[in-house]
Amino acid sequence: MLTALKPQPADKILQLIQMFREDARADKIDLGVGVYKDPTGLTPVMRAVKTAEKRLWEVETTKTYTGLAGEPAYNAAMAKLILAGAVAADRVASVATPGGTGAVRQALELIRMASPDATVWISNPTWPNHLSIVKYLGIPMREYRYFDAETGAVDAEGMMEDLAGVKAGDVVLLHGCCHNPTGANPNPVQWLAICESLARTGAVPLIDLAYQGFGDGLEMDAAATRLLATKLPEVLIAASCSKNFGIYRERTGILIAIGEAAGRGTVQANLNFLNRQNYSFPPDHGARLVTMILEDETLSADWKAELEEVRLNMLTLRRQLADALQAETGSNRFGFVAEHRGMFSRLGITPAEVERLRTEHGVYMVGDSRLNIAGLNRTTVPVLARAVAEVLRG
Ligand code: LMR
Repeated sequence: MLTALKPQPADKILQLIQMFREDARADKIDLGVGVYKDPTGLTPVMRAVKTAEKRLWEVETTKTYTGLAGEPAYNAAMAKLILAGAVAADRVASVATPGGTGAVRQALELIRMASPDATVWISNPTWPNHLSIVKYLGIPMREYRYFDAETGAVDAEGMMEDLAGVKAGDVVLLHGCCHNPTGANPNPVQWLAICESLARTGAVPLIDLAYQGFGDGLEMDAAATRLLATKLPEVLIAASCSKNFGIYRERTGILIAIGEAAGRGTVQANLNFLNRQNYSFPPDHGARLVTMILEDETLSADWKAELEEVRLNMLTLRRQLADALQAETGSNRFGFVAEHRGMFSRLGITPAEVERLRTEHGVYMVGDSRLNIAGLNRTTVPVLARAVAEVLRG
């Protein structure tokens, strides 16, 4: 049986982690996978997480099973963080999931159960794993235009044209903030237009919210999600705590399904069913830490302060990189880097140039020229800018 298995292509992002580890050069720079690194190159455990872990060890008396949908307190705390009461609680069903990927996967399975013929529309480009999971589940898929490679901004016109062709009941996968991989995001006016378009066509948004707090702040980053959740009859939200709580390996996420109050019980039952089929109970450790932090005023304030430091550090790096690239290349071609938000920007250089950055300069980024801004620091910014300029000179 096992001999019948076909080889699987390696995940392009995760493959970079291994290649980087195997590179012996001391001055190599990792701008691949989306992990935050502080100016010393460390991915720290956040202060509030450390404190919560210590407290948890002291007060935890059992490791018996949690609820099938996760601990109600976690689900409530996350709904509050994301929706801030924008939607009546009796319209909100949710399950804790293993990370944001788990939430995306459960959302897509829910869509397939509810409406097997629905097409899922994804942005071109999107996080490669979106494509991969949709394909794996055999769900009909189409792309909508999203990115203008010339300007480095959202191709708002193309996007709106494509969204106008979406059918009622189709699903539009949106990045709630900090678009991965481009770093380009709709502005509030454009979000309003997206919302109106979805209302007109009767399409259901599936919002991937993996970077709340990494773009314009916790509230602003959730603004588009809250808008859609308030204005549209049905909304799915797949959120992750990996980045904003820095608990990548704890696998902490949530899927929120908003619909009619009368149908909430059935939606919740289906979410519970999906958890049971796929892994029974969701992981609890990270979820418990998140709950403890969000429920405790002091811990919460400390977490928000540290998250804000992270965000501002990324913004500073963006400005520094845009300036350094301008100085090294003599053109404003990369000015968009300072305008983008979140961990990523797409530089818009060719795969061959990306390859040369890796082989000649030890700079690792994804083949589509997506770089993780948070992998840089004050010392590596000028090194990267010089390397890019050198590669561009041919
Ligand atoms: C990324 O895009 O680098 C992150 O979301 C990590 C991942 O799982 O791909």
